[in-house]
Amino acid sequence: MKATITLLPGDGIGPEVVAEARRVLEAIADTYNHEFTFHEGLIGGAAIDATGTALPDETLALCTAADAVLLGAVGGIKWSDPKAAVRPEQGLLKLREGMGVYANLRPVVVLDALADASPLRPERVRGVDVMIVRELTGGLYFGTPQGQETIDGERTAVDTLRYHEREIRRVVQLAFELARGRRQKLTSVDKANVLASSRLWREVTHEVAVEYPDVVCEDILVDACAMYLINRPADFDVIVTENMFGDILSDEASMITGSLGMLPSASLGEPGTPGLYEPIHGSAPDIAGKGIANPLATILSAAMLLRSSLGLAEEAAAVEAAVARVLADGARTADIARPGQPRVGTVEMGDLVIAAL
Ligand code: IPM
Ligand code: MG
Repeated sequence: MKATITLLPGDGIGPEVVAEARRVLEAIADTYNHEFTFHEGLIGGAAIDATGTALPDETLALCTAADAVLLGAVGGIKWSDPKAAVRPEQGLLKLREGMGVYANLRPVVVLDALADASPLRPERVRGVDVMIVRELTGGLYFGTPQGQETIDGERTAVDTLRYHEREIRRVVQLAFELARGRRQKLTSVDKANVLASSRLWREVTHEVAVEYPDVVCEDILVDACAMYLINRPADFDVIVTENMFGDILSDEASMITGSLGMLPSASLGEPGTPGLYEPIHGSAPDIAGKGIANPLATILSAAMLLRSSLGLAEEAAAVEAAVARVLADGARTADIARPGQPRVGTVEMGDLVIAAL
């Protein structure tokens, strides 16, 4: 098949990990006779430096015209002044909104080879396979008014948490569909004992649940969920939640696997529109340019891209199997190595995955 893929390397370790994922995609194209055309765009701090804005119109156009988008990471110390007029993260939010990718899928899978990388006891994390579905284009991240003002001589700031019924319904529906294809269990996470937006979330979720009698659906309050993720993570199948809760719970869940450097994500909108794929880790400025970043989360994001945006399930499975093999053979980047275990660099890890394909 022919496909156009837009690459957004971004900041920090972004360019290093995206380069490895691109090489893996090129190897897949060679092996399976596909023709992938790559375009690169600017986003985040790199875009601010070059153009003064975190998401140039040109970049958004490259993304909406592509079959899929693969992003590295945005942000860094250089652009983190809270008083700055433009911030790298604004580019990411504008991109998610501009592409209409309202459902962010964050799979948390503990590979057998890495069960001992988790700070939790191996018997607790073995077999964990959770899919977190985070609402991505609503809630506190996008509500208005937002900002700081001085009222009666005192600095005051406001954020707005608003959800429309249709924003909840579409993402909850998608989560039910995923649960149906997995272990038929859905956990909806909210704070309905305090927040009005959560009470609407719960109401709409129950309405959608009627259409999925084959899926067991439970509601859990977000604080309790944070606790259950640690003491019984293997009980979860699909978790669906609003934007901010999903942001926090997915970082927490990543620690079940022991490394933020392992977790991919897919952000999807309406069927037929391009998806946005990115590792869930950040730009890691402290290790940028050193060639030691773990490229596996980005490579696994490329696998999700192959499956969800290009319909290439076999190719996606081949990439995932190659990653599992390389880890089973003992290759470790610094973030997942045990003390004293030999470490490979970013490019070497990419080489190993390509060789295992
Ligand atoms: C994530 C990140 C982003 C978010 C930041 C960089 C804006 O933490 O993708 O989880 O909060 O959504
Ligand atoms: Mg986050």
